Amino acid sequence: MNVNQLSQRLALVAGFLPKGAYFADIGSDHAYLPCYVCLNDPEAKAVAGEVNKGPFDSALNEVKKHELHDRIDVRLGDGLEVIAPDEMKQIIIAGMGGPLIRDILEKGKNKLTSVERVITQPNIDSRSIRKWYYENGFNLVDETIVEEGGHIYEILVAEKGNPDNAYQNLQEDFQKQLWLGPFLLQQRSSAFIQKCREELDKKVYVLNQMKQATAVNQEKLNMINQEIQWLEEVLHS
Ligand SMILES: C[S@@+](CC[C@H](N)C(=O)[O-])C[C@H]1O[C@@H](n2cnc3c(N)ncnc32)[C@H](O)[C@@H]1O
Repeated sequence: MNVNQLSQRLALVAGFLPKGAYFADIGSDHAYLPCYVCLNDPEAKAVAGEVNKGPFDSALNEVKKHELHDRIDVRLGDGLEVIAPDEMKQIIIAGMGGPLIRDILEKGKNKLTSVERVITQPNIDSRSIRKWYYENGFNLVDETIVEEGGHIYEILVAEKGNPDNAYQNLQEDFQKQLWLGPFLLQQRSSAFIQKCREELDKKVYVLNQMKQATAVNQEKLNMINQEIQWLEEVLHS
């Protein structure tokens, strides 16, 4: 991958930024995403944050290669500690597990006062991020899902606002929507259906394992039965 041939996943993430964005890409690795955005939008500016020295050096080299150092500031540090409060308008955190992204957001909450939009792309467990958005006054405004290289990736876009707006049937279906995504449930794209099929296979396997165990955790069993029912509702509607 390089800036000219950005992965479809990262191009979709970048597509959720407004024109003239001033954003931080946390866990930027080679800084492909901020370079791509700044090469395509002369008004855009970015901070590329990296906690590890190797990817930090790669990001510096990439930014230098494209002579973008006056518009992309590469900073070494953990999560949102590389930015100041009131500094950024948008935050991107992509290509990590949901719980890690959630922890980065939680730890750096005080840096989000000026942030209008948070775009995340968890590799696993998107539920933990929807939950974090919901509990922290971020309204989920869009989602998408894409299959690339045999993996399925979700992208979750949130803005400051009433977190209830994204969810219908708060009483009945809230947990289902938190898990599977209210927008993804509506869109029913082929990648989403594929993800649901794969999830169903996994859940049925886990259920069978649990049934064979000597001690049964009833709460877990109920949860897995509920999740299987939700997936079947999606696949058979
Ligand atoms: C798998 S790469 C993803 C790179 C790019 N964001 C993408 O989506 O292709 C994850 C990157 O996040 C960095 N990272 C992990 N934890 C981090 C943290 N707490 N703060 C900043 N960077 C972090 C890693 O060093 C690594 O370069």
